[in-house]
Amino acid sequence: MYSKNSVMMQRDIEVIWHPCTQMKDHETLPLIPIKSGKGVYLYDFEGNSYIDAVSSWWVNLFGHANETINNKIKAQLDTLEHVLLAGFTHEPAVELAHKLVNITPKELKKVFYVDNGSSAVEAALKMSYHYHLNLGKRKPLFLSLTNSYHGETIGALSVGDVALYKETYEPLLIANMQVPVPRDQSEAAADEALRGLEKVLQEKSHEVAALILEPLIQGAGGMHMYNPTYLVGARVLTKQYDVHLIADEIMTGFGRTGKMFACEYADISPDFMTLSKGLTGGYLPLSVVMTTDDVYNAFYCDYNEYKAFLHSHSYTGNPLACSAALATLEIFEQSDILGENKRKQNYIKNKVEKFKSLSNVKEVRQQGMVTAIELKGYKAEERIGLRIYEYALSQGVLLRPLGHVIYFMPPYTITDEEIDKMIEVAYKGIKKL
Ligand SMILES: Cc1ncc(COP(=O)(O)O)c(C=O)c1O
Repeated sequence: MYSKNSVMMQRDIEVIWHPCTQMKDHETLPLIPIKSGKGVYLYDFEGNSYIDAVSSWWVNLFGHANETINNKIKAQLDTLEHVLLAGFTHEPAVELAHKLVNITPKELKKVFYVDNGSSAVEAALKMSYHYHLNLGKRKPLFLSLTNSYHGETIGALSVGDVALYKETYEPLLIANMQVPVPRDQSEAAADEALRGLEKVLQEKSHEVAALILEPLIQGAGGMHMYNPTYLVGARVLTKQYDVHLIADEIMTGFGRTGKMFACEYADISPDFMTLSKGLTGGYLPLSVVMTTDDVYNAFYCDYNEYKAFLHSHSYTGNPLACSAALATLEIFEQSDILGENKRKQNYIKNKVEKFKSLSNVKEVRQQGMVTAIELKGYKAEERIGLRIYEYALSQGVLLRPLGHVIYFMPPYTITDEEIDKMIEVAYKGIKKL
């Protein structure tokens, strides 16, 4: 008699090629078939529960099966499931765009809908290049920070810097160059990195369309964190050298860093901001590129001048996804989420103090609702992240370390008791390595 979990796993393995996975691993590593979710918990087919400490790849903000979001999507489902956005529009897209313009940095006035994070980055890169071209300038090179991650379609991969994902595809990539990310969260490190950026801009700015960065936290690059001073300086320099600044807030947006958007820490307004993940509360694929009137106006002319941005995706601005996003923003409007997160963030901060005394812990760092514990003394081949992952699952917690960096990025609805469990499991896992 096979268990429900194993039947489901078998049927899956027969036909599904999973993302970011060496499928052979599943000869020994069981897949976890999830039947349902509620709050921070995911439930498998045998009733085991797992605290979703990584918000299902950083998307979930207010828990699984959230009532407010469910109801809004249900209502939309009976009204309009989808319509193309070229030549047509619909209420959720219009309302959401107005709200996004109101809450994002002041110069961002236009919303271009896309349908996932990487595609938003692609669209932002193309828009930036095309903007300069429309103004008579050919600038095919993009700058990004060392250790960055912006997605995995070809353009997005080109401006990333995680060798594991990028190296194989090197011959396919678009023109890109990396400038140093600040090495830590200090102002001195930010100043040093800014000097590196200025040097490159002095030499290359005539061919550079944009600098793209993940403000304050480089997610897939191991939750590396840096000081907002860098953002202030990068904004000044990019303006000075006629280079766009693209703030990729796909992971950092919607409160993850402690403020609604990470750019607020530096009080800057970028030329483009990409948003996805938390935008729909973790429900449906949707993304946006926010940009300025200046960028928008460079494309605005008679059709036969051929300056339009002719970029599209079938599911652009899907009404169900926009409704999920509207419900998500409603939750932010109706209670003091960021204030409550501040309390939780301090609670987590105090609880993780004890990790610092473990001999295999190199650093504990935190920015808002993201807390990372970096381990030391292990080789990549040891795959210690995988060992922590397996141990945590056996204890009912979904952690998904990035190499030797264990991190917590839970839904904001997590309770103190659930935080205690999440942290205790990680602590024991790290201690017994
Ligand atoms: C900063 C950042 N940009 C872009 C992406 C790509 O988003 P998606 O996975 O939806 O393509 C990610 C995904 O993790 C991300 O963290």
